Amino acid sequence: MSASGLWYGGDYNPEQWPEEVWAEDVKLMREAGVTMVTLGVFAWARLQPGPQEWDFGWLDVLLDQLHAHGVAVDLATATASPPAWLVRAHPELLPVTADGVRLEFGSRQHYCPSSPVYRAAAVRLARALAERYGRHPAVALWHVHNEYGDHVTECFCAESAAHFRRWLGTRYGTVEQLNSAWGTGFWSQHYRDWTEIEPPRTAPGPVNPTQVLDWRRFCSDALLECYRAEKVVLDELAPGTPVTTNFMSMFKALDYWAWAAEEDVVADDAYPDPADPTAQVGAALNYDLMRSLKGGAPWMLLEQAPSAVSWRAVNVPKRPGLQRLWSLQAVARGADAVLYFQWRASRAGAEKHHSALLPHRGTDSRGWRETVRFGAELRRLAPVVGGRSTAQVAIVLDWDSWWALELEDHPSARMRWSELLRPWYAALHRRNIAVDFLPPDGELGYYQAVLAPNLYLLRTATARRLTAYAAAGGHLVCGPFSGVVDEHDHIHLGGYPAPLREALGVVVDEWWPLPEGAEAEVVLEGGARVTATRWTEWLETEGAETVGRYGSGPLAGRPAVTRHGTAWYLSCDLGPQTGAVLDPILDRAGVTPVLAAPEGVEATLRRTPDGAEHLFLLNHTDEPVELALPEGWQRAADLLDPARTPDPALRLDPLGVAVLRR
Ligand code: GAL
Repeated sequence: MSASGLWYGGDYNPEQWPEEVWAEDVKLMREAGVTMVTLGVFAWARLQPGPQEWDFGWLDVLLDQLHAHGVAVDLATATASPPAWLVRAHPELLPVTADGVRLEFGSRQHYCPSSPVYRAAAVRLARALAERYGRHPAVALWHVHNEYGDHVTECFCAESAAHFRRWLGTRYGTVEQLNSAWGTGFWSQHYRDWTEIEPPRTAPGPVNPTQVLDWRRFCSDALLECYRAEKVVLDELAPGTPVTTNFMSMFKALDYWAWAAEEDVVADDAYPDPADPTAQVGAALNYDLMRSLKGGAPWMLLEQAPSAVSWRAVNVPKRPGLQRLWSLQAVARGADAVLYFQWRASRAGAEKHHSALLPHRGTDSRGWRETVRFGAELRRLAPVVGGRSTAQVAIVLDWDSWWALELEDHPSARMRWSELLRPWYAALHRRNIAVDFLPPDGELGYYQAVLAPNLYLLRTATARRLTAYAAAGGHLVCGPFSGVVDEHDHIHLGGYPAPLREALGVVVDEWWPLPEGAEAEVVLEGGARVTATRWTEWLETEGAETVGRYGSGPLAGRPAVTRHGTAWYLSCDLGPQTGAVLDPILDRAGVTPVLAAPEGVEATLRRTPDGAEHLFLLNHTDEPVELALPEGWQRAADLLDPARTPDPALRLDPLGVAVLRR
């Protein structure tokens, strides 16, 4: 898949329109500078109108037309929504909820991931498409399914139960091993035989937590098997064409480390909310994750909204300039493609109120003018294609730990991974410090600082690596409620955070969660006072030095933040004030920002294989800003503004962007 520039385009659903419209579509795509469309995502019923009927004629025409007009195709395997005839012939493929309700046909994504009927039909469709179009010159990318886990992440039917038992058999070998891992000595849950085991359906009270944790692992794996089954066929029949499936940013149900390893290129769908004034922080976080999933390789933004979405309670449009800014933010953070949902606004169906590149009003609309203007502008950024970024800081992200953290009956239901992570990330983002995400077994040695905002579930092997990292002088910062359980969700006995106790030089006597509205003051070294919400801990030092103490409440006077050599422990949630602890640690670690810029100005750097550096500067505020450029950048050209003359200062309009190249 090679583009001469950044890919530009979106989901194209011609099956929703009469044929007369197609020629106009292709003509307008050219006008807008569209270079790629995602075709056929929900076209199963059209492609296969009956069990033995196929209708490829329309797709033949479209692929040829698109190709003739220089538009590459990200061809979907169309397997996310089985047609009515298949569902009626095999109602058992519909998914069942934890309460035993079978979900009906009439929306989308209505299938059980373990259903052999669904799987066979999906692979058959993928095979038919790959046989026909595997070597079609228009097809630059294969798009398996769509957003695995959207709407339905799990199915509790009998077929899934049998599949779960097989999966458990592979994991544990014997029922006794399972009994020991699940701690079934508790509440009389012992199993004598595999056949007695079921998925964690709705039960009278809390369900065995290890059973639920294994269920989460199983559900991610079951969907991954579906992806893999289609990928194998595509690799066989369309060798050389990359294969992807579109992710949903920081999505709990799927372990994207495992998934990304089986994609040829990472692709994401991102829908930051224009009504949220801090949306750009969450978006940056998601984009950094996408970049990190394949070790820094460029990724593709396959979907975003040109303006409003249709699925929030209130769908605020993007004010002029915002879609440009947010698109370029994705490019700044490693995307080599800017695609949207969708090309032409639907006339009927559940998403008819969703914005599109070509709005209902047609070409005489603000939306269309932005589509054309931005398509032209994006062409100027061709030199950044393939560019990578480097980071001095890493954040450890472990889906197992995320799943375990959010199990029921914990000291506080308010400890949610995304909410714990966000302020740590925001502290880096505010200072334009580049960051990579790392899996728990990732290579730490390269980084000047490694942050673990929360590792509730901690394998001994991971703890050993973190300990070795800090012992070798790496700056390690661990957040609260970490090192609590092992991979089976069994407590690490002897004082939390047991496997990290030596590295951190602390022991926690008891968790001290704070209810909604409660706060505890924390006084940092040097006298700064910050506020903990959500969580505090009764912490004792064992060799660590106290660098912050609780200043109020039942823990007043006790350690809150500690330092042991180059290993820090933060025992509370400081929310938006987390930077008060992190900033001095990062400074001490010698971490430098990409650029010290005024508040609200984001800066990133992408280096391309030709040796050029590209400095992205994005003004997320509604005010113009002026920034002083460092020495080496003053004469750099702005790819977006060819008229820029060398100047030590750079002015950015409200929501403005510059991409300097040197
Ligand atoms: C995505 C989905 C698209 C469309 C879009 C609307 O989640 O993949 O098909 O529904 O949302 O925002």
